[in-house]
Amino acid sequence: MQRIVLIGYMGAGKTTIGRVLARKLELEFFDLDWYIEARYRMKIPQIFSERGESGFRELERLMLHEVCEMEDVVIACGGGTPCFFDNMDYINAQSESFYLKAEPEVLKAHLLMGKSQRPLIQGKSPDELTAYIKESLQVRSPFYEQAKHVVPIEVIHTKAQINHYVEEIEKSINKS
Ligand code: S3P
Repeated sequence: MQRIVLIGYMGAGKTTIGRVLARKLELEFFDLDWYIEARYRMKIPQIFSERGESGFRELERLMLHEVCEMEDVVIACGGGTPCFFDNMDYINAQSESFYLKAEPEVLKAHLLMGKSQRPLIQGKSPDELTAYIKESLQVRSPFYEQAKHVVPIEVIHTKAQINHYVEEIEKSINKS
C-alpha cells in the first residue's frame, strides 16, 4: 500500500507535481482543496467568506482524515494544512510525506503565474505578496520541515522539470 502526501507553501508545485507523480506510480491523485470543494459544493474563497479561516481549517482537518484513509493515493495538501491542529503528526503517521521546499522568490513567481484563487493573498500588490510570503513561510517552515523527505524546488518552466522532481520523489521512496 502506498500513500504519499505532498506539503509546502502555496505555489510550491504540490498539485502540478502530485498529478504527474500519481500517473507515473499508477496511484489515484487527490488535491485536498479540490476534494473539499467537491464534498461541500463550495469554492475555497466562498468557504473562507462564509465560515472564516477557522471554519475552513475545521473542514480541512476533517477532509484530510478522509483522504488519508484511502490507499494507493498521492495527496496534495493545501499550503496551510500541516500547520493547524495535529495535522502534521497525523500526516506523518499516515504517509510518506514530502515537503516541496521553495524560496520566497520561487513561490512568488509561481503564484503570479497561477490562476487559482487564494483568499489569503487576494488583492496583494507584488511587494505586499513578497512580504506576506516571507513572514508566513517563517511561521510555517517548522511544520513543513517535519516531513519525512524534503525536495528543493526551483521555478518550474518545463515538463522536464516536473518529471525531474517526480523522479526525485520516486528515488526517495525506493530508498526508504
Ligand atoms: C492555503 C492554501 C491553499 C488553500 C487555501 C489556504 C494556505 O492551497 O488551501 O487557500 O493557508 O496556504 P494551495 O497551497 O494549494 O494554494
